[in-house]
Order: sequence, then structure tokens, then C-alpha cells
Amino acid sequence: MNLELEQQRVLVVGAAGTIGKAVTQAFLQEGCSVILLDKDPLKSEDFPHAPERLHAIQGDVRRAEDMNQAVAYGKRHLGGLDHAIYTVGAGSGKYGFPFWNLSPSDWPSVLEINLMGAVHLAHAFAPEAIQQAGRTLCLMSSVAGQIGSQTDPPYSAAKAALINFMQCIAKDFAPHGARANAIAPGMVVSELNRSVWASAQSGLNPEEQTTYAQWGDDKVKRVSPMGQWQRPEDCASMATYLASHHARHMTGQVLNIDGGQVMHA
Ligand SMILES: NC(=O)c1ccc[n+]([C@@H]2O[C@H](COP(=O)([O-])OP(=O)(O)OC[C@H]3O[C@@H](n4cnc5c(N)ncnc54)[C@H](O)[C@@H]3O)[C@@H](O)[C@H]2O)c1
Repeated sequence: MNLELEQQRVLVVGAAGTIGKAVTQAFLQEGCSVILLDKDPLKSEDFPHAPERLHAIQGDVRRAEDMNQAVAYGKRHLGGLDHAIYTVGAGSGKYGFPFWNLSPSDWPSVLEINLMGAVHLAHAFAPEAIQQAGRTLCLMSSVAGQIGSQTDPPYSAAKAALINFMQCIAKDFAPHGARANAIAPGMVVSELNRSVWASAQSGLNPEEQTTYAQWGDDKVKRVSPMGQWQRPEDCASMATYLASHHARHMTGQVLNIDGGQVMHA
């Protein structure tokens, strides 16, 4: 399928992460210019494809001015931005079951990164988005945001709020021909997922503890009808599709990439 995204300009926030890297590669392969932002330094060897179309900047999504600067960078160096993708995420590092294993003081930092970072991006990008029909914003949510996942309640709540805010954005963008959607991955091997395993092990006796691979395989078979891990590339293909004209009637949607873990009747 020709997505016809050549020469479009994309901002990927959280680009040093597992899914962020795959999203970046996918847009580069479509012929886009990509601005990558992360709090961690980006390694050029992670992005061997088309280095001349890559612009790496460092920033922290918790600071609104960093998101403003990223969009301003796009205007200055690329003449504007067509698409913005939010792939940042972080958990509390603690395990729910029950939720009072965490304390209220565990919540603000999780909400700040998972929710407020996306709010900062949406505010920075909105004036660009509404300038021209066809521009899009995509937020990486999670199945956790749709099922009240007990694993990490502040993470789950932030991901639910992200979906709700995405729908507000979609309604406000619609008269301008701009769109907003969310992708909800199920389980992808990544640092974020590994940290969930690590926190899950902390309360167990040594004989109950398992390796990350064993824990993940058991969990994915239990929660997902298809019983398989998702790949970062699965999320990346959805991100490029949503940015393309093939998805021109899709807005306000949550696309689950989860082997059937979440099904709405
Ligand atoms: N891995 C999974 O199983 C899974 C499942 C559901 C949803 N998700 C979501 O997908 C997205 C990507 O997750 P991933 O698995 O690639 O995680 P990851 O940990 O590999 O990547 C997250 C990235 O966010 C960056 N980041 C964190 N805090 C930041 C900040 N304050 N400012 C700027 N950058 C910051 C990190 O440096 C990292 O590069 C996240 O939104 C996550 O919640 C992942």
C-alpha cells in the first residue's frame, strides 16, 4: 500500500524508546523527515536509514517549553510539522494488586509523564495542526487504559485519561480537517515492560520468582486470545497508516494492537 507520506514532516516524542524507534524508522522508510525528541540522548546507529532526514533533539515532556521548542524547531528547520506522535511512557515502579500497595504520592510523577507530557505536546502542536487539512496527532495509550489494569493503577488511569483527551482533541481538530487517534499496545518487549516484571517480582518469595521471559510468556498467554507478544513494528505500521490519507475518515479512535486482549461488544 502506498501511504503517500513522502516529504511529510513528523515529530516523534519518546523516540529513544522501543516503540518510538520503530515509529521513527517506519516514517523514515515512508520518505518523511523526522524530528526525534527524548530525554535520553539518541544514538545515530539506532537510525541508520536516511540520516539526512533525521533531526535529533533532547527534551523533557514534563516541561511545556520543551514541547513548544520542538514544534518551533520543526517550523524553523522543516517549514512546519504535519504529524506528531507521542510514544513516551513510564510506570510507577511499584506493583498494584491491591492499589493500596502504592501510596497517593506515587501518582503525580506517573501522571506528569504519561498524561501531562501529551497535554504539553497537544497544546504546542495544535496551532500547526489546524493550519492545514490532513495533519494528525497520535498518542500511544495502552490496553491498561481501557480495562482498569491493577498492575500499576496510576499508569492505567493516565492511559485512560489520554484516550479521553484524545477524543476532545479529535472533536476540536475535526472542523479543520485535522485528526487525532490513539494506539493501544498490549505487550511489547521493552524497558517499560521489563520494569513491570521487576516490580511484580519484588513482593514474591524466591521460589515464586520467574525470569522476565517466563513471566511475559505466561502473562501474554493468559490475557490475550492470540497468546503472543506484539512487536514494536506492529505499532509503527499503525502509526504510519493513521497519518496517511487512507485513514482520512478515522479520528477519535483507539486502535488496539493486542491480539484481542480488549474487545468491546
Ligand atoms: N511495551 C509495552 O508492552 C507497552 C504496552 C502498552 C503501551 N505501551 C506504551 O507505548 C509507549 C512506548 O513504550 P515502550 O515500550 O517503547 O517504552 P520504552 O521505555 O522503551 O520507551 C519510553 C521512552 O520514553 C522516554 N521518556 C520517558 N520519560 C520521558 C520524559 N520525561 N521526557 C522525554 N522522554 C521521556 C524514555 O527515555 C524512553 O525512550 C508508551 O506510551 C507506553 O506506555 C507500551
